[in-house]
Amino acid sequence: MLDLFVFCCALLFGHFNVIFHNESPIAAAPKQQSTLEILTTAKTATKFTAEPISEGHIRQILLAGLNAPSARNSQPWHFSVVTNKKILNQINEAMLAGMPKGAPASPRKLGLADATVAIFVYGTNNLPSDSFDCGLATEAMSIAALSLGYGTKIVSSPTIVLNGAKKADFDQLLQIPKGYSNVAVLLIGHNDKSVDTTTGGSTRSPMEQKVRFIK
Ligand SMILES: Cc1cc2nc3c(=O)[nH]c(=O)nc-3n(C[C@H](O)[C@H](O)[C@H](O)COP(=O)(O)O)c2cc1C
Repeated sequence: MLDLFVFCCALLFGHFNVIFHNESPIAAAPKQQSTLEILTTAKTATKFTAEPISEGHIRQILLAGLNAPSARNSQPWHFSVVTNKKILNQINEAMLAGMPKGAPASPRKLGLADATVAIFVYGTNNLPSDSFDCGLATEAMSIAALSLGYGTKIVSSPTIVLNGAKKADFDQLLQIPKGYSNVAVLLIGHNDKSVDTTTGGSTRSPMEQKVRFIK
């Protein structure tokens, strides 16, 4: 009888495994946190390893973005997902070329060229809320990626070059539909755990400074 019970449990567990993990298995699945834990503690990634991300996970992350709320359900976004390092390097080079000459060298930060996956978030400019909605979608994808155990970084610095004089070339490269401009880029990768992200990390203003409770 006990054997039968154990057998049934194994079958059931196996079934749920199929339902919930029908995508390709994750290479060394990182520790997963609760959504609340992520929202109240997550920080911007500082270094990625070279480990790839499965297409199944990329699609799950994109679904979170596509499911974001938007004003009048206008869904004013377009996402171009780039895993091609040559393209990321090309855009990164264009960004560097556009930097003012003689500008002081800033400390090396995680950038486009370091991303395992870069989701280029583009938006229309039909409603005043379009870029806000794109921000919601970007954050939703970031939280999804974090909840799958990846590191993320949102960057808006590429917008200058992507929406600049060579916009048409970049639009073609990234297959952007007509009428869309770049809002931000979400960088995703496996966190390099050998890097100290706590010491000297950024802080947030306390609740007393940023919140008023009106009773
Ligand atoms: C809309 C947006 C644009 C950002 N653009 C850049 C950027 O261009 N370059 C960069 O290094 N970080 C960028 N960041 C990352 C912020 O600097 C980072 O979220 C903030 O400093 C908090 O850091 P923390 O998450 O490590 O606490 C951006 C973040 C957001 C939300």
